[in-house]
Amino acid sequence: MISYAITDRQREIMSFLVVHHEETGMIASVREIQKHFGFSSSNAVASHLRALEQKGFIKRSIGKARSIVFLLGANRERRKESAALNHTNRLMEEYVDQMLLPISAQRTEKRDVKPPLAQNPIEQAISLDRLAKLIHADSLQAMRDMEEQSVHAIVTDPPYGLIEYDAGNHAKLREGRGGVWRIPPKLNGVERSPLPRFTVLGPADRDRLVKFFHSLGELALRVLVPGGHLIIASNPLLSTSAFSSIAEAGMEKRGEIIRLVSTLRGGDRPKGAEDAFPEVSVMPRSCWEPWGLFRKPLSERTVKLNLERWGTGALRRPSRDEPFKDVLECSPARGAEREAAPHPSIKPQKLLRMLVRASLPMGKGVVLDPFAGSGSTLAAASAIGYESIGIERDLGYIEMAKRAFVTLKSLPVPA
Ligand SMILES: C[S@@+](CC[C@H](N)C(=O)[O-])C[C@H]1O[C@@H](n2cnc3c(N)ncnc32)[C@H](O)[C@@H]1O
Repeated sequence: MISYAITDRQREIMSFLVVHHEETGMIASVREIQKHFGFSSSNAVASHLRALEQKGFIKRSIGKARSIVFLLGANRERRKESAALNHTNRLMEEYVDQMLLPISAQRTEKRDVKPPLAQNPIEQAISLDRLAKLIHADSLQAMRDMEEQSVHAIVTDPPYGLIEYDAGNHAKLREGRGGVWRIPPKLNGVERSPLPRFTVLGPADRDRLVKFFHSLGELALRVLVPGGHLIIASNPLLSTSAFSSIAEAGMEKRGEIIRLVSTLRGGDRPKGAEDAFPEVSVMPRSCWEPWGLFRKPLSERTVKLNLERWGTGALRRPSRDEPFKDVLECSPARGAEREAAPHPSIKPQKLLRMLVRASLPMGKGVVLDPFAGSGSTLAAASAIGYESIGIERDLGYIEMAKRAFVTLKSLPVPA
């Protein structure tokens, strides 16, 4: 029986094929593969290519020098079910999803398409400046590989429903076809940003969401020092499931921060019956966004002792005279900010700087954002002089973060 698991060597060869194709527009020949990897004979190349073909990554037509055809997602489900599916495989699946499915959309842009590697996430990080590091990886895996108790706070804006950042829906968004993303029509010539529709989540999606946030909670406990806070965005439709899963994993729920923000979510009349029911909204127009506030249990008897030992356990005040408050008003990112970082879920610097600042009570430590997107949390951390680490699995957003970082961190933020 064929194992659909991929070996490290096969992953490297596959990555080489993709990178070569991206950079030259041509498929690497057997000789080029042989030379690149230093194989003594072309038989070794042939045997790896045969294995990749059996596992559904490529298709070859025998006898031609440059005959490999990428097979995109073929056999994906079977590979997924493989008992031997390991970390390398999962990364490779992500990689193939990102690099191959939307390949036609990406071809115009040269990219840094180095594949994610399995070990030492911090060692593979890109430095965005003296304080901020960005890792290209799956966040759950990277948090498993990170050193225990190595960060002092987590501030993050995860994929709320997961499905919106799955390869399929995300590729549709990039192609302008929507999928789970609602692409609003232009209003008075003004283009509005797409919003994901979370009402479409079914029981299996919700089950996956609960498991995902439970794992995230467990990993937050792993990487945070005692007393470290997790501040995590959600959506009113999904926050109950996400937040209770994180709490079940062992993080202490300490409250919620309400961001007052007007969006285009909800408020519509019944579809197709707008005139028949002019006084009805199916759902309220959303004017707020919940951020869960969690803390890893203290290791010391009191907050004072925890602050002394770890520098954590409390929230930093905006000023000596003012406590941190749990209602913050902040409109969506616009103008220069959105132009610099056109991520579909960009969070504004104004909000992130308030949250990131509060997350380290002594103004010292490392803030982690496992769903870094355009790197906005890292930029906010650098703007206020904090160290930070971001994790992002999408190569396009890694590139965006590299480009947008200086602009975002230098943005003057309105009071
Ligand atoms: C809601 S967006 C965050 C946007 C960010 N707040 C910003 O301002 O740009 C979530 C991000 O997490 C990334 N992502 C989703 N699942 C991931 C995973 N398992 N590991 C790493 N990144 C992931 C997505 O590619 C997306 O960029």
